[in-house]
Amino acid sequence: MFERITPYPGDPIFALVDAFHADPRPEKVNLSIGIYFDDAGRLPALPSVRAAEQRILAEAGAKPYLPMEGDAGARAQVQALLLGAGHPALAEGRVATIQTIGASGGLKVGADFLKSWFPDSAVWVSDPTWDNHRAMFEGSGLAVHTYPYYDPASGGVRFEAMLDTLQGLPPRSIVLLHACCHNPTGVDLTPDQWDRLIPVLRAAELLPYLDLAYQGFGDGIDEDAYAVRALTQAGLRFFVANSFSKSMSVYGERCGALSVVCGSAAEADLVLGQMRATVRRIYSSPAMHAAKLVAHVLGDADLNVMWRAEVAAMRLRIATMRLALHDRLTALLPGRDFGYFLSQRGMFSYTGLSAAQVDRLRDECAVYLIRSGRICVAGLNAGNVDRTANAMAAVLGR
Ligand code: LMR
Repeated sequence: MFERITPYPGDPIFALVDAFHADPRPEKVNLSIGIYFDDAGRLPALPSVRAAEQRILAEAGAKPYLPMEGDAGARAQVQALLLGAGHPALAEGRVATIQTIGASGGLKVGADFLKSWFPDSAVWVSDPTWDNHRAMFEGSGLAVHTYPYYDPASGGVRFEAMLDTLQGLPPRSIVLLHACCHNPTGVDLTPDQWDRLIPVLRAAELLPYLDLAYQGFGDGIDEDAYAVRALTQAGLRFFVANSFSKSMSVYGERCGALSVVCGSAAEADLVLGQMRATVRRIYSSPAMHAAKLVAHVLGDADLNVMWRAEVAAMRLRIATMRLALHDRLTALLPGRDFGYFLSQRGMFSYTGLSAAQVDRLRDECAVYLIRSGRICVAGLNAGNVDRTANAMAAVLGR
């Protein structure tokens, strides 16, 4: 019956995490997966989230199914976070939001929705992008292509080439964009570049799909929503999948959402209805605890302030580690330019290390990063940054 099933080679990121945990070397450093660790190398339990959990426990009672679209309170909080409370698009009722199983769940619901309603549209993702983007959209039956993005020569964005490609796409092509903290490169569009991109998206009648998994880790919670707000302001219709996994350090709770900014309340009703139908076909309805966490942390004024400060502290620690790695590498290899560690945003940096150099880092120095050369800067801390810099300098220098 099952002999013809081919073995799963494993996911490049999750398999590396497994290899890291199996490694007996005590000095090992995990820069593989996009998870924020504190300066002691621990996964933090944020005080705002713990306070919310205590309240949830105190209120715990019956546990009915949530509606297919999720909890109304959590959905409203997500909308206010994305657009800013009181945004006219919210008052006009033209944003359709569902609570999803992390941003990945949102991407999948959106992908299935698009396959149903835009079956002839292809998806265009940045070169490079998070590996799972391609897998998810192809898994929903959509063709996936790439547009130019990262420029290894300058460490920046091939912005003119990106615009050239996008303006030549067929109308209704779906363009996957990282709203902030580009994964895997850490190279973001500036607000000016978003402002130049938006008219191109509009003129070519493209359908933007934002992935916002690292809100708050770039320049700030509101600053990192620039793309969402600018697209809304410009009157575009678009998708945005957002996650709280990283910003609330609630990876296993699967807190996320999918929002579609529409042209009118009537359109939003239609979209919401078909998103509900899509959810029903995949997992029926989302999880209650995830909804309560989001609703409490964002909806309680004190917890919201506390959470924003916690996100700011995480962002600051990452910036400190970027600087430390930059300074140590510059001291070790004075002829080389490591300025990209300072200009890139969010958890990730594209180091330019080759797959062979990444293998040597893992095998010889117990430093783990994925083979594209992406490091998760949030895995660095005061106790391992010197060792990591020495190891990187050793493989770069030889
Ligand atoms: C990553 O890119 O490391 C994170 O987004 C985690 C994941 O699911 O791959």
